[in-house]
Amino acid sequence: MHLFDLVIYGGTGDLSRKKLLPALYAGFVSGRVDPVSRIFLTTRSAPDEDVLPWLADVLAANGDDVSADDQKLQQFAAMVSIVPLSLTDKEDDGWKWLVETLQSCADRPIIHFLAIPPSVFTSVCAALSHHQLNTDRCRIVLEKPLGHDLASAREINADVACHFDESQTFRIDHYLGKEAVQNLLALRFSNILFERLWNNQTIDHVQISIAEDLGLAGRGGYYEGVGALRDMVQNHLLQLLCLVAMEPPARMDAESIREEKLKVLKSLSNITNETIKTDVVRGQYSAGTVAGQQVDGYCEDMNLDGNSNTETYVAIKTFVENWRWAGVPFYLRTGKRLPDRFAEIMIQFKDVPHSSSPDWQYHNRPNRFIIRLQPVDHLALRMMVKNSAEGQADLKEVELNLDVSDPNRLGPYLRLIFAVAEGDQSLFVHREEVEYAWRWVDGIISKWDYFNITPVEYPAGSWGPYEAHDLLRSDGRAWFHEK
Ligand code: BG6
Repeated sequence: MHLFDLVIYGGTGDLSRKKLLPALYAGFVSGRVDPVSRIFLTTRSAPDEDVLPWLADVLAANGDDVSADDQKLQQFAAMVSIVPLSLTDKEDDGWKWLVETLQSCADRPIIHFLAIPPSVFTSVCAALSHHQLNTDRCRIVLEKPLGHDLASAREINADVACHFDESQTFRIDHYLGKEAVQNLLALRFSNILFERLWNNQTIDHVQISIAEDLGLAGRGGYYEGVGALRDMVQNHLLQLLCLVAMEPPARMDAESIREEKLKVLKSLSNITNETIKTDVVRGQYSAGTVAGQQVDGYCEDMNLDGNSNTETYVAIKTFVENWRWAGVPFYLRTGKRLPDRFAEIMIQFKDVPHSSSPDWQYHNRPNRFIIRLQPVDHLALRMMVKNSAEGQADLKEVELNLDVSDPNRLGPYLRLIFAVAEGDQSLFVHREEVEYAWRWVDGIISKWDYFNITPVEYPAGSWGPYEAHDLLRSDGRAWFHEK
């Protein structure tokens, strides 16, 4: 059972309502969060209603079957306080109340979770340090976006470092808290079978896809001017790439894992003036149909009269330039308003070097290892076996399923909050990783700007722009996704 005091700055905002509070409630109901833990939600002004009905609405809106009469919810609500507080004014009375209240229980870690725009990180860190809320038992959690580019990320990291040690600083990427991602590490580094095959001798290419059927989901104000490259590639997709491509760490501790991930980021091939046109696709959805529903295009969703250069889709071909991966393309793609929601890593092995029968040659498919992160956690190995139904020499593809789903599993945010409470940094992103990821992403953005490359349209409900399919087709490959 985990005991902590958690202060969520931006406590009544989108992230808190949609992800953090539902995760904490699930943790409480399943007996993993100690009921003497306390949760403080800071907000600019005092709410109109009591915390109990407010929480009931928040959780119900997220699909929890709760009402204000619910006993469990009442117990949970007793752990939650709403704290009116000006984040930019360290003399605000709310700080004084927070300090006294937090100091009244010295037996637990204090987690400061910054679910606020990065423009306010600096003033909150300064206020925390002014009120001595940065002592050893305090940890600070930074939610993305960590800046807009390398320069702003460096500035944020430097500002935070003035008040909190790196060991107290937890940069969250919720993809690292997903069950199948955890399993990827266990599988790679605990099975000789995989590790021996995990290189350019055997692997043909890797695909990493995060597809969403949703559009902006009420987050348009944040998204415009940010776009898919900064919102998804700089963090989630590059982190997944690192976990696939990294060398076995000497130990499964934070330092060793982060060192290996950093080496991957440093080995990524830079997008050049030539490859920006051939290996990167920038798209934006136009009106279309998703799940039978007619939906607007991006500019209408955003109420923009003119055009917008914000991309809602990106596909990229890149390489990890080291001995293990030389010549193996890594294809990344992510997009909003696609037909389906899924996140998947697909590792495609090479063809067999010789086929002993012409019939086999015709039917043979390369082996594929698929790591599904959502909607379900699932690992699958695609292999060829004899198809007895159709004659002697025929082959068929079957899937060897490794079911890693666990009904009692923790959701990503709960797992990550517990890791912060334990001071375990291994599921968090080091300052240098953030900066190297930005350096690579900045290289793409500067070329988009230089060559004036604007997003190409794809209809909502399609699998992205034609150009993204051509990217693989010209290499004799195709995007993978089968339900
Ligand atoms: C967030 C992005 O980090 O991840 C969102 O800001 C995106 O735009 C979300 O929708 C996707 O997360 P998940 O876990 O639902 O795939």
